[in-house]
Amino acid sequence: MKKLHIVSNRLPFSISFDDGNPTLTPSVGGLATGMNSVYKDFSGNWIGWPGVASDSQSPADLARIDALLEKEGCVSVHLSNHEVEEFYEGFCNNTIWPLFHYFAQYVDFHAEFWDAYVEVNQKFADKTLEVIEDGDYVWVHDYQLMLVPEMIKSKKPNITIGYFLHIPFPSYEVFRILPWRDELLKGLLGADLIGFHTYDYERHFLSSVRRLFGYEITFNEIHIDDRIILADAFPMGIDYKKFDDAAIKINQTPLKERSEVHRELEKYFLMDPDRKLVLSIDRLDYSKGIPNRLRAFGRFLENHPEYRGKVTLIMLSVPSRNNVIHYQRLRSEVEELVGSINGLYGNINYTPVWYFYRTMPFQNLVELYSMCDVALITPVRDGMNLVAKEYVASRINQTGVMVISEMAGVVKEMGEAIVINPNDENQMEKAILQALEMPLDEQKKRMATMQKRIRRYDVFKWAKEFVGALNRVNKIQKDFLAK
Ligand code: G6P
Repeated sequence: MKKLHIVSNRLPFSISFDDGNPTLTPSVGGLATGMNSVYKDFSGNWIGWPGVASDSQSPADLARIDALLEKEGCVSVHLSNHEVEEFYEGFCNNTIWPLFHYFAQYVDFHAEFWDAYVEVNQKFADKTLEVIEDGDYVWVHDYQLMLVPEMIKSKKPNITIGYFLHIPFPSYEVFRILPWRDELLKGLLGADLIGFHTYDYERHFLSSVRRLFGYEITFNEIHIDDRIILADAFPMGIDYKKFDDAAIKINQTPLKERSEVHRELEKYFLMDPDRKLVLSIDRLDYSKGIPNRLRAFGRFLENHPEYRGKVTLIMLSVPSRNNVIHYQRLRSEVEELVGSINGLYGNINYTPVWYFYRTMPFQNLVELYSMCDVALITPVRDGMNLVAKEYVASRINQTGVMVISEMAGVVKEMGEAIVINPNDENQMEKAILQALEMPLDEQKKRMATMQKRIRRYDVFKWAKEFVGALNRVNKIQKDFLAK
């Protein structure tokens, strides 16, 4: 029976040490959830990096980690500290990430980073080649592994390969900046199906293929000799039911038994029931537009003194890629802005921005989603943004307003939100006011429409549609060869 194997930089578990013993904690991320659903139909392996540098562990611990992962169907690709620096922090997060998010001024063009990227991609491909058998399917994920499809295809042409890019694919004029642009595209073209979150990213990719290689492209089919490669859009969804169910459960729990976060937020409203909460949640990343958002909120308080004491911004910033310099600088900038807004507009009873630099358990996240009147999601560039979908799924009484950036992939599914340009702080300030003053019946009408759409195309549907398309491309290819 054919199997489906997943290849991604991170495995769906994080490793921690409990009393010196390695333990696994399952990730709650969208990818793990979606993949589990397709796993039921095709058993296979998940190939990825366990997230710890191999030379920071003793050989015995490393073997224990591998054994634990193996029980879960995972195969480890070990990365040394040097590889983490040059591949993960280097080429992935200092070259591709900024370039694909249109931060060309942040891009490092180091040949050593590129060499590490090639070597580590080869490691992932070799591990995958060890476990796959003729006729199997392989689904490769994201920008860290763009060379893996070709590295597998060249060794085993009868493997059906899917690739999904979780970040934007930039326009050709940006992509061409990269000295290794041809190699990256060749790597991707080893796949039979190449998926993106939106039609725009797919078009940018096809345009790069056409301009750099001149291949024949009919609609979304690329023809190279006797191969047919399909590019398509698959907007990733969330596990809608999980958020909806959790929000219903919280709502049914008596106040006394709710979490501390929930009780503290209730106190905030008890002081004045007209108070409002605005929510912002992201990884602390420069692509997320956090300083712009804070400045817009500061301007709002400046120009609307009637709202001082009445509206608080809850800002959860999840630590990310701390060893990369631009992330360190961003953290300082954000913390300075939070301090300055709180210093200017706060008083003993009022803190305008509640800032948390940490991760938060699922339960608390849903509490925040359920209790905040407005979600302010303003990335300057974002492949999709699943937080926006999670907020919508958690609004069980259908109130709540979404303010969303036109630069996030998710905007294509959120026509009913207030859409802003994240570089226009004046427009964002107006959007905050509009959101806070939106009548309840209008909120409900907009939210209900978004919920219907996001509930229908959830992460399970996303994964199934991708695998369905892999089956189709397989058939198209066979029919073409049989002609
Ligand atoms: C984005 C990327 C993922 C990545 C995640 C967390 O969502 O598309 O591939 O795993 O960020 O970043 P990290 O660098 O911690 O893996």
